[in-house]
Amino acid sequence: MNAPAPPALPGRIHPLVRAFLDEPGAVEDALIRFGSPAHLLFPQVFTDNLDRLREVLAGQLSRYRICYAHKVNQSRAFVRTAEHAGIGIDVASEAELASAVGAGFGSMRIEVTGPKGEGFLRELVDTGATVNVDNLWELRRLAELAGERARVPVLVRICGFPGTPVSRFGVPLRRIDEVLDLLSTHRGRLTFRGFAFHLDSGEPAERVRAVESCLALTERAYAYELAPTVLNIGGGFRQVFTADADAFDAYVLALRESLLGRGEPMTWGGNTFGFHIDGGAVHGTPVFHKYANTVSADRMLADLLDTGLEQHGGRSFAHVAEENLLDVWLEPGKALVDHAGITAARVEFVKETSDGSTLVNLDVSRDTVTPADQEVMVDPVLLPSAAHRGVDSAAVGVFLAGRLCLERDLISNHKVWLPHRPRPGDLVVFPNTAAYHMDLSAASASMHPVPPKLAVTHQPGGFEVCRDGDYEPGLAADTLRRAHGSGRHGVQ
Ligand SMILES: Cc1ncc(COP(=O)(O)O)c(C=O)c1O
Repeated sequence: MNAPAPPALPGRIHPLVRAFLDEPGAVEDALIRFGSPAHLLFPQVFTDNLDRLREVLAGQLSRYRICYAHKVNQSRAFVRTAEHAGIGIDVASEAELASAVGAGFGSMRIEVTGPKGEGFLRELVDTGATVNVDNLWELRRLAELAGERARVPVLVRICGFPGTPVSRFGVPLRRIDEVLDLLSTHRGRLTFRGFAFHLDSGEPAERVRAVESCLALTERAYAYELAPTVLNIGGGFRQVFTADADAFDAYVLALRESLLGRGEPMTWGGNTFGFHIDGGAVHGTPVFHKYANTVSADRMLADLLDTGLEQHGGRSFAHVAEENLLDVWLEPGKALVDHAGITAARVEFVKETSDGSTLVNLDVSRDTVTPADQEVMVDPVLLPSAAHRGVDSAAVGVFLAGRLCLERDLISNHKVWLPHRPRPGDLVVFPNTAAYHMDLSAASASMHPVPPKLAVTHQPGGFEVCRDGDYEPGLAADTLRRAHGSGRHGVQ
């Protein structure tokens, strides 16, 4: 009788990325040329994601703008891809602004989000970029700084919608009269473009309530003789990490059992991942719940645009936006870079710990592949080095350890089953790391440099790899589709 398959967390992998991983020696060659570890970015996958969002928007709206949320990844290749594709960009710091300008964005296509200090506001006043105002201080200060010489285009970010968790960002809905007074008083200094929100929620009803509130505010603004033309619905459109939702659930079930002391131990260092154990049962929502999502960003967006709005006689959001000649803006970050990046590292050595666990030590640290120290619930792909190919052994449950001299530098605190025991020199590839995973927490502890970023493109003659900063867009998405017959919706 065959032994049951070990618990697995198979990751979804874009066909282009899969083809690169399957190309003999392709990842190895990139690491030999540029060093290990390395982040590999796929701008053609970015374009693919963009096309899908555009298709949804164009099907329902005559006016819309996509602003790529730069904060999701520092890659210049992605910023150049966004610029080349003709979309806008959302920047959240002086450095991101400089990066956007350096990549060719004119101010008309730049939107500045997030909280801004005095220095940044001063810099922004004369740029012509749209300032998405976070708070009343910013709004007042911007009006003062604008003086008589510039009319600064502004959006106002609102928060505190009914049933929405408290956020540190935005102006609370209940302070709207002060906002409208200020905008009205300073109409010669500020050009009010409209209201904005950003929710990091996968809960559709929350977004619908925010849309309804902002539509009501837009009407209220008309009474102040303001003429908003934009409704900015922010980002927060989800990624799909898992290739197999049932396998994901089965893994989590096995993990819960192991927390109760049943079956094979599956956690490192007593980690409970946000679950709590009480009365012989496991309770709560795990910190890694987003890795279970199966609803794609374009589906989320289509559903939102299709939602009938109670306050508008059940007419869809898209319909109401069209009727009111509103430009719908969005600021996707992770949805645009979903599946557009991987991180490759090398196995240094494999060791046993005193409790009998197997540790696979890599030349990368946890902060390089986890966003804000989240537990990433996607299995890495093991690529044996040429010398080890074909040397088979049984699947093995391991913990992946980082290169820092810190007890907590475990890349996986959950047990990962690899198809066979890795050997020094083998490669381990972390799928889908482009969204926040690469950059949000990356540090240079112990003076390890942060890994280089490389851009990988599929050209008629095969894959080409260059430094991220050297990448220039030019390959149309069509080429991608032709090369990988599976089409734009190929990541299934
Ligand atoms: C204001 C704003 N817009 C857009 C985004 C991008 O969000 P996501 O990557 O979830 O699409 C963020 C992320 O923090 C944000 O703060």
